[in-house]
Amino acid sequence: MVPLCTLLLIAGFETTVNLISNGVLALLDHPEQWAALCADPALAANTTEEVLRYDAPVQRTGRLALADVDLDGVQVHKGQFVATLIGGANRDPSVYEDPARFDITRTLPVEHLAFSSGIHYCLGQPLARLEATAAFRALAERRPDLRRAGRVVRRNAATIRGPLHLPVAVG
Ligand code: HEM
Repeated sequence: MVPLCTLLLIAGFETTVNLISNGVLALLDHPEQWAALCADPALAANTTEEVLRYDAPVQRTGRLALADVDLDGVQVHKGQFVATLIGGANRDPSVYEDPARFDITRTLPVEHLAFSSGIHYCLGQPLARLEATAAFRALAERRPDLRRAGRVVRRNAATIRGPLHLPVAVG
């Protein structure tokens, strides 16, 4: 029970907190995108997808090869561990046009890998999407005067990515 509760706490709470704060940071750092969301809060769901692609809260996961496999010309042997870099894949220029550009009106040609894929595809992704979309929508509707108010301090962590401190002000 303890590992299960730990997994649900980290997987279900830390991730969504960082999705929302990464989104607020990206929006306030791109005033034209924030203005677009405030003008049309219905863009909130698309904003969530773009934040997940642009600044994924989970930057990496890994897989243990159960058999020898050829990965696009790279040989992975049975028993080897492969680190999969989600943040890098989400900015693959052969998949996403101008990948370093944050654009909440973007139509993604394929789903980003922020929730991974395959049999371990995130169990909580519908909830995370719902929470973040509600948060972005409510902020845009109620606090269009939101702005940055100080230096951002990022978490010192290799897997979970997001701000530790994100000072903001209104008015
Ligand atoms: C923005 C929010 C979230 C992100 C970015 C995220 C990301 C991920 C990723 C990348 C994986 C797959 C790991 C792998 O393939 O090795 C995963 C799995 C998982 N996630 Fe999430 N997650 C989020 C929210 C949630 C929430 C809200 C819950 C639960 C309420 C949750 C529960 C789980 C569980 C239980 C797994 C393991 C699934 C399995 O192994 O079959 N996640 N998540």
